[in-house]
Amino acid sequence: MSAETEALIAEYFATGTLKGLPHNHWIDGQWYAPLNGGQMETFDPGLGRAFASFAAGDEPDVERAVNAAERAQQGVWGKATPVERSRILYRAAEGIRANAERLAVIETLDNGKTLSEAQSDVRSAARLFEYYAGAADKLHGETMALGPDYVSQTSLEPVGITAHVIPWNYPFSTAARGLAPALAAGCTAVLKPAEQTPLTALLLAEILHHAGLPAGVCNVVTGTGAKVGAPLVAHPKVRHVTFTGSVQTGRTVMQAAARNITSVTLELGGKSPMVVLSDCDMDATVEDALWAIYSNAGQICSAGSRLVIERSIHAEFIERLAARANQLTLGHGLHNPHVGAISSLEQLEKISAFVEDAKARDIKVAAGGTRLSDPRSGAGWFFAPTILDRVAAADRLVQEEIFGPVLSVQVADSVEHALTLANGTAFGLAAGIYTRDITKALRLARDIDAGQVYINEYYAGGVETPFGGNKLSGFGREKGLEGLRSYCRVKAVTARI
Ligand code: NAI
Ligand code: MG
Repeated sequence: MSAETEALIAEYFATGTLKGLPHNHWIDGQWYAPLNGGQMETFDPGLGRAFASFAAGDEPDVERAVNAAERAQQGVWGKATPVERSRILYRAAEGIRANAERLAVIETLDNGKTLSEAQSDVRSAARLFEYYAGAADKLHGETMALGPDYVSQTSLEPVGITAHVIPWNYPFSTAARGLAPALAAGCTAVLKPAEQTPLTALLLAEILHHAGLPAGVCNVVTGTGAKVGAPLVAHPKVRHVTFTGSVQTGRTVMQAAARNITSVTLELGGKSPMVVLSDCDMDATVEDALWAIYSNAGQICSAGSRLVIERSIHAEFIERLAARANQLTLGHGLHNPHVGAISSLEQLEKISAFVEDAKARDIKVAAGGTRLSDPRSGAGWFFAPTILDRVAAADRLVQEEIFGPVLSVQVADSVEHALTLANGTAFGLAAGIYTRDITKALRLARDIDAGQVYINEYYAGGVETPFGGNKLSGFGREKGLEGLRSYCRVKAVTARI
């Protein structure tokens, strides 16, 4: 661990907070106190106590941010050349890397994840800016051949002001995932972080400012979904909404956007299966299943939260997986255990209620099943890595997103049965396939209804790989060159000559 990180950790445990955390909105290139003067607290889930306060904004703050974005869109940002946008985004990637240690410590405190998970999120955010920096000056149109009497061409224009509503599980990297392509395409942005984790998005806006992003191009307004999120996504000047979060809120966002015929990208929930066939590499697959569900304490939309496994290897696999789950250490993220905290008390109670209900119905708990606390302080919001075995296809433990470290196991009698089980929910975000037979794997990949399929490595892919869901998991794709589409609109110009 570096001296800088060590000093920040020592400061936090000595004082219960960190110096220099942001308390206000970032609007029009500066810190801006909420018009109503309101503040709310953000919690460190590892200790279950508040450690900072931030602006509890409302509609007039949103209005101010959207107007700042509009001025930038019509002025300085609308006139910037693609290569100027590219250079700013590249400097932003460098700025993120230069501030990586502090960002990771703050992300760990605000969200509860482990320090190494937060460090990895910060690296991927930097990589997103680097990737889209390279794309900003390669957004070409086409020419269409209409014969000698016409010239017909398309160009890609920025859609305009974009709104970004971010959840609490990956606060920094999800903000980067939307902002980097939006800015690359020449759009402006107003971003609302989750009220559980507001801090690192504010710091990202400041980093973009120091990278040379003109005032008003990227604005961050903090507060609740009802007071900031709702007026933002319903704002008639917003031309695209990128939303990541629950299915229910996604529906509300889409309805609000519909009034203004504003386009939306929805990254919603999942109940993604890991399909494990009898000819898999058992050692590697057990390890992969472990991290597919217990990374980020299971609070991942694309988590491998269902294990669909062939009967012949089921007993041995669960025995081994349970043994590994029981070895995982839990604790405050800054102590860098294997598994961090649950991000809010509300989420912990939701996870707990699912597992208590399973116990009451005599579903077999093969590992975990209990709430825990940080072993050093006895405080904090934790849940033991849990396996619920032999769950029926129609059970709510298979059908509903728990969003915690809880794996539901489904036993399959054949590859065809495994496919039916894999597709047997209303979600379609991700799926893992484990087999040494590439033909079986590619057939399953063809037939599984999901936005991404991972073969023999869960979460395989990079910022280059498009990400998004089918069915209730949403629509639209982020990351990769696909991720630019939402932020560009096509203009066709045709002349008779
Ligand atoms: P949520 O979907 O309500 O919150 C996500 C974001 O939307 C937050 O920034 C929130 O302030 C904002 N928001 C809430 N209401 C809004 C509205 N009417 N208009 C505009 N923005 C609004 O999710 P929540 O309540 O934090 O978590 C509930 C469940 O959602 C979790 O238990 C989990 O199952 C799921 N979830 C899924 C995520 C994913 O990555 N797909 C991320 C977070 C939660
Ligand atoms: Mg927090």
